Amino acid sequence: MKKRIQAKWNEPLISELGGNGRRAYIPEQLDIPSVKLSDEWLRKSPPHLPEVSELELVRHVVHLSQMIHGVDVGPYPLGSCTMKYNPKINERIARFDGFTSIHPETPDDAMQGIIEVYYRTQEALKTLTGFSAITLQPPAGASGEFVGTLIMRAYHLSRRDHKRNTVLIPDSAHGTNPASAAMAGFKVLEIPSNENGTVDMDALDAVLDDSIAGLMITNPNTLGIFEKEILEITRKVHEVGGLTYLDGANFNGIVGMIRPIDMGFDIMHMNLHKTFTGPHGGGGPGSGPVGVAEHLSQFLPVPIAAYKDGMYYWDYSHEQTSIGRVHAYNGNFGIVLRALAYIYRNGGIGLRKSCEIAVLNANYLMHKVSKIRGLTIPRAHGVPRKHEFVASALPMLKETKVSANDIAKAMLDYGIHSPTVYFPLIVKEALMVEPTESETIQSLNQIYKVLQIISDEAYANAEKLHQEPTTTSIGRLDEVSLAKHPVLSERMAK
Ligand SMILES: Cc1ncc(COP(=O)(O)O)c(C=O)c1O
Repeated sequence: MKKRIQAKWNEPLISELGGNGRRAYIPEQLDIPSVKLSDEWLRKSPPHLPEVSELELVRHVVHLSQMIHGVDVGPYPLGSCTMKYNPKINERIARFDGFTSIHPETPDDAMQGIIEVYYRTQEALKTLTGFSAITLQPPAGASGEFVGTLIMRAYHLSRRDHKRNTVLIPDSAHGTNPASAAMAGFKVLEIPSNENGTVDMDALDAVLDDSIAGLMITNPNTLGIFEKEILEITRKVHEVGGLTYLDGANFNGIVGMIRPIDMGFDIMHMNLHKTFTGPHGGGGPGSGPVGVAEHLSQFLPVPIAAYKDGMYYWDYSHEQTSIGRVHAYNGNFGIVLRALAYIYRNGGIGLRKSCEIAVLNANYLMHKVSKIRGLTIPRAHGVPRKHEFVASALPMLKETKVSANDIAKAMLDYGIHSPTVYFPLIVKEALMVEPTESETIQSLNQIYKVLQIISDEAYANAEKLHQEPTTTSIGRLDEVSLAKHPVLSERMAK
C-alpha cells in the first residue's frame, strides 16, 4: 500500500491575489434608478475586496479543493455522522432554475412546486418513520433535538403537569442531547450502559418516577449496537408519564427495516444531510426534521406544508399550540430537495437495500479490524453491529504510545479520512468507524490494510507516527492553540 502523492498547495488568501481593476465577473448594468443615500449610511473608505480575474479565481478554488479531503476524494468512515457519497443526480436537480431562482416571499400559488417538494418530503418521512406529522424547519440534528425537547415541555405544560423537570439520557449519547435538553429547561440524568453496551435496565428502573419528562435515546446507539430492549424501555418511560425521543442520527442503520414509531417513540429527529445525503461537514448546511406521533402534532413549529383540493399551501392551523417558528422561512430547502431526490431515486426497496449493505460493510470491516494488533472491539463481544462500530486503540497506546489520534492522522497519508475519534466517551481511545453502503469491498479492504500498516509501524517505529500526516498541504496541527486561539478572519491573520 503506497502513500498518496498530493498536490501540496500553500494557497494564499484570495485578498493576497490579483491586482487593481481585475474582474472575474462584471454584472449587467442595473435598469432600476439609483438612489442617493445620505452620508451617514456611506462608508468612509471603499471596502477591501479581492480583485481577481476569472482564471485566478478558478485556480484559487481548485487549489483549495485539492487541499482538503472529501468523500469524493477517498473513503470517509466518520462514525455517527454518516458521510456517504452524495449522488450527483441530487446536485443536478438542486440546480434546476425553478428551484434556484425563486424568492421565498413568492405567493403560495406561484410556488406550488416548492411547497410540493416540502409536502412530498414530509410524506416520505412519515412513511419511513410511521409518525403522523413532520416539521422540516430545523436546520441540523442538534436543532431538531432542541425542537423535540421543547415539544416535550409544551406537552407536559399543556396538561398542567409542572413536576416533570428531568430528561433521561444514556451515557453513550451524543453531547448535543444533554445540551438540547438543558437549553429547553430540563435537568439531565445520565443512564449508564452495561457490559453489552446497551442501557442498564436496573439503572433505568431506579430513576423512573413522575419527575421524568422523557427519555432521549439513540438507536442503534453510538456503539452501533441495537438496543434490543427498546420496547421495554419505551414502555417503562410511558408508564411513568414520560415521552420517548429517538435521536435519529443513526437512522442509516435501520431505515427501511423498522419504523421508529413501532419501537414506541413519540418524537424523533432525522438528519437528512446524513441518512438521505446532503453534502455536509464543516458546519452545514443541514436539515434535522422532527417527526411526532399524533398526540403531539399540535406542538410542531408552524407552518407545515399541506395539500387540499389540488393546491399545496402552508398550514398555520395549530399556531396557538405550536412551540413557534424555529427557522426563517421553512428550513434549508436545498438539503430537503436533495434528500427527496435521494429517497425517490432509491425507492423503498433501494433504501432498505442500502441499509442492509451499510450494516454488512460495518460488520465485515469490524471483523477484519478486530484481528489487528493493538486494537480491540470493546463491549458486546461477538454481537453484530448495525451501520457502525467502535474500536479502541487503548492496548496500542499502552504498548507503543501511539494513540487513536496518531492513527487518525496517519490514515490521511494513505488517502483515507479519519474515523471519529474519542467518541463515544464510554470507550477509551475510541475510533468510531462508519464505512457506509457507498464503499466497495476494495475500499473496505484498503481501510483495513492501512490500519494494519499503521499497527505494524506503531510496534516497529512509533516515533514516526507522531509526525504524520506528511503528505498533506498542512501537517500535524497544534490542536490546543487551534481551539483556544482560532484565526477566523484575514485581519486576525495579519
Ligand atoms: C448521535 C448524534 N446525535 C446528534 C448529532 C447532531 O447532529 P448535527 O451535527 O446535524 O447537529 C450527531 C452529530 O454527529 C450525532 O452523531
